Amino acid sequence: MSKHSFDVVAFGATSFVGQILCRYLLDEFGTGGALKWAAAGRSQAKLEALRASLGPKAAKLPLVVADAADDDALRRLCKSTRVVVSTVGPYALHGEPLVHACVDTGTDYCDLTGEVQWVRRMIERHEAAARASGARIVHCCGFDSIPSDLGVHFVQGEAKRRFGGPCSRIKMRVKAMRGGASGGTVASLMNVVKEAAADPALRKELADPYSLCPPSGAPHARQPEVRTPEYDADFATWVAPFVMALVNTRVVHRSNALSGHAYGADFVYDEAMITGKGPLGGLAATAFTAGVAGFVAASAIGPLRAGLERFVLPKAGQGPSPEAQRTGFFDLRFLGTTANGRKIRAKVTGDRDPGYGSTGKMLGQAAACLALDVGKAEKAGGFWTPATIFGDRLVERLTARAGLTFETLPD
Ligand SMILES: NC(=O)c1ccc[n+]([C@@H]2O[C@H](COP(=O)([O-])OP(=O)(O)OC[C@H]3O[C@@H](n4cnc5c(N)ncnc54)[C@H](OP(=O)(O)O)[C@@H]3O)[C@@H](O)[C@H]2O)c1
Repeated sequence: MSKHSFDVVAFGATSFVGQILCRYLLDEFGTGGALKWAAAGRSQAKLEALRASLGPKAAKLPLVVADAADDDALRRLCKSTRVVVSTVGPYALHGEPLVHACVDTGTDYCDLTGEVQWVRRMIERHEAAARASGARIVHCCGFDSIPSDLGVHFVQGEAKRRFGGPCSRIKMRVKAMRGGASGGTVASLMNVVKEAAADPALRKELADPYSLCPPSGAPHARQPEVRTPEYDADFATWVAPFVMALVNTRVVHRSNALSGHAYGADFVYDEAMITGKGPLGGLAATAFTAGVAGFVAASAIGPLRAGLERFVLPKAGQGPSPEAQRTGFFDLRFLGTTANGRKIRAKVTGDRDPGYGSTGKMLGQAAACLALDVGKAEKAGGFWTPATIFGDRLVERLTARAGLTFETLPD
């Protein structure tokens, strides 16, 4: 008989993405079924409104009230469940007390953060205690960085099967995607820009591709990075920088380091956006690069940032409409090359907008995988990545139940 009331508690259930997550958990697991779960947040009234909005099927959904700054309430929450899945962000502002409570109580945890500087801080401050308590902490379980991290894991599994060893070089190119941003994502991004603008050491850390790798034995291979428009002969197209690469590449390198360099000590990985062939593709790459650079520059200047936040960008609780989530998608292409030049092409796709419709499903399946599939005896306490703790099991869940595909392509 489990000492816990729940398998999973969804903390931040009333956030924009938390509501999508709860609807998905309800569709997938109902209430009181194979996965016992509860919705948690700081306001009883908002939680009750959420439960009502989910319809009669949610009538018996348990609710848990806790504030992200109330250590006692967080510890009670952690003791009631085997896994906490959190969408309370910006994580750098609100996330640490919950990670601390999970680590203290040996409770497993996953989230949606893409704030690399915060992940690094959490590893530095809490990894030793997580190892001691048995808490498994898995950050970055949304669009950043599951498709990249599991996409590389998938390509490397295929390379080992076909060639007996890993690819030493993998490129990920975003072929197409459609979606938008939410207020929470914008707030998290703005907070990183604000922290970095005030701290040169943080800017240096954010530029380090190995910033999430354990300090001992970090590899030293020089990592390529698409920072300007360039022609990519391997994909016969122009490419531009991909903003999420700054998160995804760090997670992929941590996966390599945690797996004892299963991808090789000199493994090289980068990501970029495909903008098209011919002069129009080149023009689009230039325009996109200039747009991203302009946005980052404007966000780093206080008054311009305030103007963007006030007049242009979505506010807390806002995000893409249900229709935009339903008609959104993503299509990522991978090219792996072994040291002796053998190649594998693959693609990873999702059937909803990347940041919300698909992310809600990826996060829900990550939480279920942590609660139901991966025993503590198999994976000990510590800070894991999606690929190193879930691997093929999450690929299977996402393919069977969350609208993702992972497939190899002819060369
Ligand atoms: N990795 C990815 O692919 C991905 C995709 C989407 C989102 N995200 C991240 O997910 C996070 C949430 O995004 P969102 O757009 O859903 O945000 P949001 O709608 O602005 O929601 C933020 C949530 O935090 C809660 N909160 C704030 N302070 C709290 C406190 N002291 N105690 C308890 N709860 C508190 C809010 O509670 P109330 O509801 O009571 O106000 C709200 O539910 C962001 O960090 C975003 O960057 C990541």
